[in-house]
Amino acid sequence: MDQGLYIKSIQTILASQSEWGSYVASPNFPTYQYCWLRDGSFIAHAMDTAGEFESASAFFKWVGRTIQRFSYKVDEARLRLAAGLPMGKDDLLHTRFTLDGEEVYIDNTWGNFQIDGYGTWLWALNEHVKISGDFSLLQSLKEPIEITLRYLELAWKLPNYDCWEEHPEYLHTYSLSTVYAGFQAAGEMIASGKLNIKTIPVKALATEVLQFILEFAVRNGRLVKYFCPPGEESETRLIGNDGVDASLLAAAMPYQLLSFDDPIFLSTLKKIEEDLHRTGGGVYRYKADVYYGGGEWILLAAWLGWYYASVNQFDKAQALCQWIESQADENGWLAEQVSDHTLYPEHYVPWVKKWGPIAKPLTWSHAMYVILVNALNKG
Ligand code: BGC
Repeated sequence: MDQGLYIKSIQTILASQSEWGSYVASPNFPTYQYCWLRDGSFIAHAMDTAGEFESASAFFKWVGRTIQRFSYKVDEARLRLAAGLPMGKDDLLHTRFTLDGEEVYIDNTWGNFQIDGYGTWLWALNEHVKISGDFSLLQSLKEPIEITLRYLELAWKLPNYDCWEEHPEYLHTYSLSTVYAGFQAAGEMIASGKLNIKTIPVKALATEVLQFILEFAVRNGRLVKYFCPPGEESETRLIGNDGVDASLLAAAMPYQLLSFDDPIFLSTLKKIEEDLHRTGGGVYRYKADVYYGGGEWILLAAWLGWYYASVNQFDKAQALCQWIESQADENGWLAEQVSDHTLYPEHYVPWVKKWGPIAKPLTWSHAMYVILVNALNKG
């Protein structure tokens, strides 16, 4: 383990945290000057694994305040859905916010409707209280937790953008697994006796989501990247995508939708290893990825390593850790992705022209590295 990079990663995360508690996705990349619930939840979890509880707690409080600010949207969305009215692109809770917790309207085409961050923050919050022992946070966050649960209950079957902010017309297995994790986490927090929510049947909802995934998201014995909302398949609409996405690792690690030895998870993992893990290198998001040419993602390499460390395959985890360390630049910064072995090199330059050089440092990359190092240390 590179002690220097570990310390630098913690410093980079702390430097990326605003006075309000939010974490900026990347300080140097204009398009990522915001806080995403998805990135932020994993960043907070990384800080928990590093014992930096104050930072994580400040993030959860920021999430709480932000969700409360927009809770009226959940009530309005319920009325719209009940009346069969169409849902506008900004009628649901957004995926990213300014650092002080406002919605972002600078790019009106942004796919704001992404449910995964809402499941993920509940998962990360439950992990936080278990690791830090600070259960008092649950009482102060009761309202936003409840709003999130009502939101997920309402929205989980609606097609929405995936965790890479693509394919809004489908249901995404990764996103659904976060919803499962969110309901499960709420169940645990309620069972701890420190969170009093009686109106939402979280355990039953978790079971419903699990059954839905098993019924619709499994093909050829493994999880698929995305699929059509049931009943909506047509000749003009693709049935879905039966390839894998590296984010499906989350089904077992950390969301525990499937156990580590579940045959469906093991087949999914095998396909990810075969199709997306470059031998001796990093991990691609999915086979058709053209974003900046489709490079290897640091955070996904760490994620695969996190899984290996959790099942005691330390050599493999160590190899991924070393690969990540070899990708740090002279400042000790980790990028979002690296471009030495892109899947579609011809797509690299057009993205650089559009948004500038690849985001670096990417706070989420540093966070996943911290998680991996701590998983290795634990082992
Ligand atoms: C990624 C998202 C991420 C965002 C900010 C996007 O390019 O696809 O997963 O949340 O960047 O890091």
